[in-house]
Amino acid sequence: MKQDTDVLLDEKRVFKPSEEILKLANIKDWEAEIEKGKDIEKYWAEKAEQFVWFKKPEKTLDESNKPFYKWFVNGKINMAYNAVDRWIDTDKRNQVAILYVNERGHEKKMTYYELYREVNKFANALKNLGVKKGDRVSTYLPMCTELIVTLLACTKIGAVHSVVYSGLSVGAFVERINDAEAKILITADGTFRRGKIIDLKKVSDEAILQCPTIETVVVVKHTGIPIEMSELSGREIFYETLIEGEPAECEAEEMDAEDPLFLLFTSGSTGKPKGVLHSTAGYMVGTATTLKNAFNIHDGDLWWCTGDIGWITGHSYLLYGPLLLGTTTLVYEGAPDYPDPGAWWKIVEKYGVTKLYTAPTAIRHLMRFGNKYTKIYNLSSLKVLGTVGEPINPEAWMWLYENVGKENCPIIDTWWQTETGMFMIAPLPVTPLKPGSATKALPGVDADVVDENGNSVPPGKGGMLVIKKPWPSMFRTLYKDEKKYVDNYWKDIPGCVYTAGDIARKDKDGYFWIQGRSDDVLKIAGHRIGTSEVESAFVSYPAVVEAAVIGKSDPIKGEVIKAFVILKEGYELKTKLIEDLSKHVRYELGPVAVLGQIKQVDSLPKTRSGKILRRVLRARDRGEDVGDISTLEE
Ligand code: PRX
Repeated sequence: MKQDTDVLLDEKRVFKPSEEILKLANIKDWEAEIEKGKDIEKYWAEKAEQFVWFKKPEKTLDESNKPFYKWFVNGKINMAYNAVDRWIDTDKRNQVAILYVNERGHEKKMTYYELYREVNKFANALKNLGVKKGDRVSTYLPMCTELIVTLLACTKIGAVHSVVYSGLSVGAFVERINDAEAKILITADGTFRRGKIIDLKKVSDEAILQCPTIETVVVVKHTGIPIEMSELSGREIFYETLIEGEPAECEAEEMDAEDPLFLLFTSGSTGKPKGVLHSTAGYMVGTATTLKNAFNIHDGDLWWCTGDIGWITGHSYLLYGPLLLGTTTLVYEGAPDYPDPGAWWKIVEKYGVTKLYTAPTAIRHLMRFGNKYTKIYNLSSLKVLGTVGEPINPEAWMWLYENVGKENCPIIDTWWQTETGMFMIAPLPVTPLKPGSATKALPGVDADVVDENGNSVPPGKGGMLVIKKPWPSMFRTLYKDEKKYVDNYWKDIPGCVYTAGDIARKDKDGYFWIQGRSDDVLKIAGHRIGTSEVESAFVSYPAVVEAAVIGKSDPIKGEVIKAFVILKEGYELKTKLIEDLSKHVRYELGPVAVLGQIKQVDSLPKTRSGKILRRVLRARDRGEDVGDISTLEE
């Protein structure tokens, strides 16, 4: 949701930490920790000591080939070893690592030891399928324990995982799997959603026909619905058959600190989604440290990140961050309002969730039901709350603070991105909070708001949000596109500065107020989707000649799609065509592409070189001044 920062900068409310929060805090002096973090090499080197290294790094940071930074040079380490194996010899061995709950009330608990054994079995099974270090393995799975096992098994043997969000559809699926040149696909029969079962295997069967690199499909029986397996022997195999009889021990592959860990596709302002490549050690250090700092994680916590593992939020803070800290992480499969709008609060009460991390769009959705449901359940186990994905509007912040946190829980508004891998701008629980501001950069992170020359802008003035120094969990490149990595992120500002693609302001206290994207990327219910992807989906429909897409403000989803289409002669945008077009876009991209409105037009505003001027469409749509249109074609 785009923030009106002019209004927000006048925000006078400041919420100071309570005595109890101060007492429980791992870090009590926020400013002093930020000061400590200014020596980034020293700060992050210290944080790296929490892990078991097969070989300690020789150097913390190598800046010799900017922006291709290297962290923890020549260190040898393994993610799964540190997230799982390490805990087996401690008293966490029988602690629940994963608590899976679904909307039907079914639960499954896996202790660290059970997780260890299953990861090893699956890692051995993957090896038997011919998966080697560096090979890509894709998943198209619901939120389930097998997804976590798969990803950890990949990292155990050094395979690079590439998760396709189960809410994406055929077109998006094919693109991602083919770009990753994945060898193996792990999918499931289906997923539970709002009382129905969504057939994932059907989508996967259809998509896989267009994915020539896939050698084997592994199928998890998750919902139990009947499915058809391929007749081609050996090509499709059930997960449980595959791991049967596999040894429960598997040696962890010694990975170089910089070896790739995973690929995750995300939308940019132009072209197809790009594979964001994260590497091993830096990502581990960054995610574990920021989670511990921002949410004050300690033994006994029950951590619940409501984000899906299909996005970076789930990778960093449902799976890896919590397990690297030896926490219990809750995995929920279902919608926030099913079977009723008290579904989440019931879970908080039943299991005693202590830290809840969610999205502003979910809060805005649940706010509609007032405070009835947050009153029915006892939410007193909650200690810290957090949000991510888009700016949180002060109304949603206050609702969460008052009704869920009962004015006892700090709200950790975390600004970060798929590319950053970890929280970048966020408070600590002891930070004085202003509703709607993510406060300041975390210790060890150097963020700023600058003009096009790279100069810091004065308080209150808008500018580009940048990161001025490297950070450990930064992405290392865009898969198979180093040029785009450099051009898209590191070239806008002189010197080697990372531009995030967001506009922001700082107030007189140095607090950041993020306004939204500065490019053609939409944020629909916190999901990132490029206007060009949606436009391609439209024009792949036979009746459409050309399409332009903008974001339209929506009170719950933040933004939805407004499309302007030029139709072939003889076509008119009547109900049937609108329905067919909506279905087609959904088929190509999945339910993340929420259509607000489709409008038929005769022409689109373009530059003389043929580039669509979406900003003109946006301004016209909002009844604003269209600004400089000297480059307009006609
Ligand atoms: O525009 C910012 C917004 O989400 C973008 C990153 O999207 P994605 O890579 O999908 O990652 C989302 C989860 C980390 C950013 O460029 N964004 C994310 N968090 C916030 C935010 N905007 C404002 N406040 C936030 N807390």
